[in-house]
Amino acid sequence: MKIKKQSGPPEDLIYFDDDLPLSQSQVEDVVEIFKTPLTGSYNWDYTVADNRIKKLYELGKELNWNGSIDLNWDYTHPADERILETDDELPHETLEAYENLSDEEKILFDRHDVAELMSQFLHGEQGALLVASQLASCAPTYNAKLYAASQTFDEARHVEVFNRYLQEKIGIHYPINPALKSLLDKILTDERWDLKFIGMQIIIEGLALAAFSMLKSTSKDPLLKQLLHYVIRDEARHVTFGINYLEDFIKTLSPEEINERAEFAYEACVISRERLINTKSQQRFLGMSEEEAREFQLNTGSFEMFRNFLFSRVIPNLSRIGLLTDEVRPKFEALGLLEYENAPDDFECDWAEMRKPLEAFEKIPV
Ligand SMILES: [Fe+2]
Ligand SMILES: [Fe+2]
Repeated sequence: MKIKKQSGPPEDLIYFDDDLPLSQSQVEDVVEIFKTPLTGSYNWDYTVADNRIKKLYELGKELNWNGSIDLNWDYTHPADERILETDDELPHETLEAYENLSDEEKILFDRHDVAELMSQFLHGEQGALLVASQLASCAPTYNAKLYAASQTFDEARHVEVFNRYLQEKIGIHYPINPALKSLLDKILTDERWDLKFIGMQIIIEGLALAAFSMLKSTSKDPLLKQLLHYVIRDEARHVTFGINYLEDFIKTLSPEEINERAEFAYEACVISRERLINTKSQQRFLGMSEEEAREFQLNTGSFEMFRNFLFSRVIPNLSRIGLLTDEVRPKFEALGLLEYENAPDDFECDWAEMRKPLEAFEKIPV
């Protein structure tokens, strides 16, 4: 085993060629150390409250899929077809720099675009894996510990399948977006378990659910659709768990403590909205600087809609758990995000929908 420590994440793209899998002696694990003052708790009464959390835990066990068997890895999308739906309305496709690309370059741009986005999913899933494992120690109640343990395994599968798709089907990893990295750092190193919970379960997973659904609806690759569909079904349970647990827990806090959490949630939303912008593949193919690519996206109407849509689940859920306090409401209003306040939250979920057996490869709903 070889382990190389470095002070931050890789900054460059990583390419994978065909001669996988590597033998143990060829693998060098690259790690970055973080320190966390974790305050754990035993639970000694083993009380099983017969509530939604228990139901979600049971469902998690029932719907436990196997990333290596249940996904159709035999399918490989044709090399001369785009993965993303062609859409003449896509802002960058109206640019001269895009029109000047050859057909092959346009396909390559498509692969890089998908790789950049899915790499953020991959890194985010690793963050979720680490946080969920922390929660198994830190969450105070018995049900929540069991749930966090089952979520940890769900997140391991998510890391596994995103990584496998990127390595086998595209062959590229993009480095983590610095804004996503700073959010994960904050969540992983905070000593308050409920902040970890709010940051991961409500904000990052809420954003991820919206982003996964968007990619699923624009993907022409049926394997990618199946993969995302299975991950989305798991994530919907995770978000429901977060809301049901936090709604009860936050009521036990003092007004000052609640405000601290509300402020934290607001700041996490600002970072996500203002800085979670992927620019690297546009820089590479459209000859833009980082700043130009950022500005281009920030000033394009459809990106603006997309960025706000990402919050359509986060905001109602923050409202439901009591974190849209009078102090932070004006700030959310200024971001233009309060319009989602009364959208449906994930507290009451559609149990029949959640309980459905997993759909086969040919039957993935759009
Ligand atoms: Fe996940
Ligand atoms: Fe999750």
